[in-house]
Amino acid sequence: MAERVPSAPPRSLAVPLTGFGIGAVVAVLVGVFGKVHDPTLAGTTTLGFRTVLAMKVVVTVAIGVIAVLQLVGALWLYGKLGVPAPSWLGTAHRVSGSVALVLMVFVAYHCLWALGLESGTLADGQPVSTRTVVHGILGCAVIGAVVTKVVAVRSRRAPGWFLPVAGGLLFTLLVAVVTTSAVWYLSAKGWPARGY
Ligand code: HEM
Repeated sequence: MAERVPSAPPRSLAVPLTGFGIGAVVAVLVGVFGKVHDPTLAGTTTLGFRTVLAMKVVVTVAIGVIAVLQLVGALWLYGKLGVPAPSWLGTAHRVSGSVALVLMVFVAYHCLWALGLESGTLADGQPVSTRTVVHGILGCAVIGAVVTKVVAVRSRRAPGWFLPVAGGLLFTLLVAVVTTSAVWYLSAKGWPARGY
């Protein structure tokens, strides 16, 4: 008797629409929290660096490096590099992606909790720079993009384009967040361990 092969579940556009919708709602909620919460350094850590800011710069550089590795790994897994992907690559991609995600939530928490979503003028009358406003908005968007990516990874009913699009969106936003924070900091002030 012929063996019955279980058929793949039907693909549904409702999955990406729901994923993007939930991601957008989460991004807005994170932004609202950043606006209403009173910033405080209580409940933060420097991980042994001189300041929370120095710690965030160093951890964010690590996140940026992992993000680039994730992009290369994804292209390799999708057969875009012209070389067959090794069998361990899928597991390595998942593990390093999870590490990047945990680090990102950790840094985002320190931004949101200690600084919030800044705009207009600060308590000391200083105007908030455009870079800072853009960084804060992108920071909220990247958290939403993480949620959308998790939906894409978990769903078996999503169309094939959803995972690469969600991953590409997350990567693009993350690069923008890292550029408007750690990369700006390093180019303006140098590596934080050098007497920051
Ligand atoms: C969750 C939303 C986020 C908000 C509202 C936010 C907000 C901020 C603010 C207000 C600053 C201070 C900027 C300044 O003093 O000029 C800052 C700094 C920083 N943020 Fe974020 N951030 C968020 C997410 C993230 C994420 C996800 C990362 C890393 C992937 C990150 C990395 C950094 C770093 C390295 C700095 C220090 C360099 C700098 O001063 O710009 N932030 N953030």
